[in-house]
Amino acid sequence: MLNWILLLISVVAVYLLVNPLVTMMKLKMQFGNAVYCKYFPIFGIIQVYRKSFKLTGNVHQWIMDIVAKHPEVKFVVANSINKPVIFIIDPEYYKQIYLDHHLVTKHDQSGIKDFLLSGGLLFTEGPKWKQQRNLVGDHFLFQKLKARIPMINQVVKEKINGMPVAEKMFEFICTITGEVVIRSFFGVEAEGWKINGKEAQIELGSIFAAFIKLRVTNFFVYFKQKILGVKSWQYCTKKEKEIMDRVTKIKQDIREVIFKRRDKIKQQGNYQGSGDFLDVYLKIFMEQNVYSSDRIETDEIVSQFITLFLAGTDTTGALVANSLLFISENKQYLQELRNEVNNVIGNGEITPENINQLVFVESFLKEVMRLKPSVVYPIARKAKQNLQIKDLHIKEGTILLLGNFLANLNSQNYDNPLEFNPRRWLQQQPIKQDNGFINIPFAAGGRNCIGQHMAMIEARIILAYLIRNYDIVRNPQVPKVQWPSRGTQTYIPDNAVHLVKI
Ligand code: HEM
Repeated sequence: MLNWILLLISVVAVYLLVNPLVTMMKLKMQFGNAVYCKYFPIFGIIQVYRKSFKLTGNVHQWIMDIVAKHPEVKFVVANSINKPVIFIIDPEYYKQIYLDHHLVTKHDQSGIKDFLLSGGLLFTEGPKWKQQRNLVGDHFLFQKLKARIPMINQVVKEKINGMPVAEKMFEFICTITGEVVIRSFFGVEAEGWKINGKEAQIELGSIFAAFIKLRVTNFFVYFKQKILGVKSWQYCTKKEKEIMDRVTKIKQDIREVIFKRRDKIKQQGNYQGSGDFLDVYLKIFMEQNVYSSDRIETDEIVSQFITLFLAGTDTTGALVANSLLFISENKQYLQELRNEVNNVIGNGEITPENINQLVFVESFLKEVMRLKPSVVYPIARKAKQNLQIKDLHIKEGTILLLGNFLANLNSQNYDNPLEFNPRRWLQQQPIKQDNGFINIPFAAGGRNCIGQHMAMIEARIILAYLIRNYDIVRNPQVPKVQWPSRGTQTYIPDNAVHLVKI
């Protein structure tokens, strides 16, 4: 009996070890030097990230080094425990995946979907995704967002005036970007909203950070969630339970805000509304046929709010925090940025009329995202069926990572790609051979970032207020900036910048 058990364990172990190697060998035989394999038994890619961070302070340095040393590489193949993971580097191949997004499904490697985001736009698919995208899509167009510019000015001014200490810049900026999403969704009613005794955006952000930290630092939780998926929440550790309780409370609070607004609309026959996202949702919610198959439930509105909050807070926060870091390390640009801000807005506010005149600020932001993208990889994809992309055959179920950030560092696409040069975006043709998928910090195709205009509006306003009022200096206590991994694999410079009032 014991022999049979040992035999079974050995067979399973061999399968776990060998399965990704089969894909690696096949691809290597077909593409030769255009494929680079990075195999790490059992732990796989997570161990590669850990090692990269330990050695270089940057979780993504390992793949940047591969591409720098081997520019001919089109695919990097690694393993996630027993499954092969293909990093698609060549723009002509990942382009097809962005364009034919229905061929793949989003594969949640971080566990965040089951935990918080299952009913929201980032993860829904098929007709539900289309319905949601149509419902809110219009409200993210620049024409519609213009109406939110005064609110964004107001939030930025309030937060900067009350700024406690000018350090921990990323966390501070996220209190602004989080508040902007909250007010865009819930309007003025959300002002001063507290959950679990903290400002709503601080509590939401800290739940998210606690979840990611637990998963990254606790191997037991990591493997449990990987193996059991959504069921793993039925067997919570004490720490997971604590986080879960905070989530339950937050969802309950959000439901109450929704019900309060619904009752207000019911009571006021001629309810005008302010055009925030909750109004948009409730209009449909209250008029829909309760028996229709695509009806919207309250839980969907809750998920949509949490999705927009998580998709829009850290990402835009990272863009501004990275911009401050680049300013502090390239001080020659500070005066130039300040001059533009003073010329365009003086002591006044950013308005729908003048925001597009902040041309250099915009080029600066674009260059920051080229070198330190707020979203390094989009969410991993999984092939829904066997796929043929050009000459690459992908087996159903294979995990794919779209490595477009690497195209932004490639000398085939840019002159001096590693040099920080915001002026390149003022040239006629900044990208040498552009297939339209080289510089895509907000992704591309039908599932691109719905919030990209909102992010760029916010970033311009926050940056303008900061550079008008502060000197931006490197924190001497953090001589080497580190780039740890976060949920969206965001680049965040840890406490590297200080602001000094001028
Ligand atoms: C600098 C800031 C931002 C960056 C770099 C960014 C980047 C991205 C990227 C790369 C994707 C594609 C994800 C994927 O395919 O897996 C995405 C999707 C998305 N983003 Fe953003 N984003 C930013 C800000 C925002 C903001 C402010 C919001 C809303 C408040 C937002 C909401 C979303 C949503 C809902 C999706 C999913 C869209 C869909 O699948 O249809 N993002 N974003």
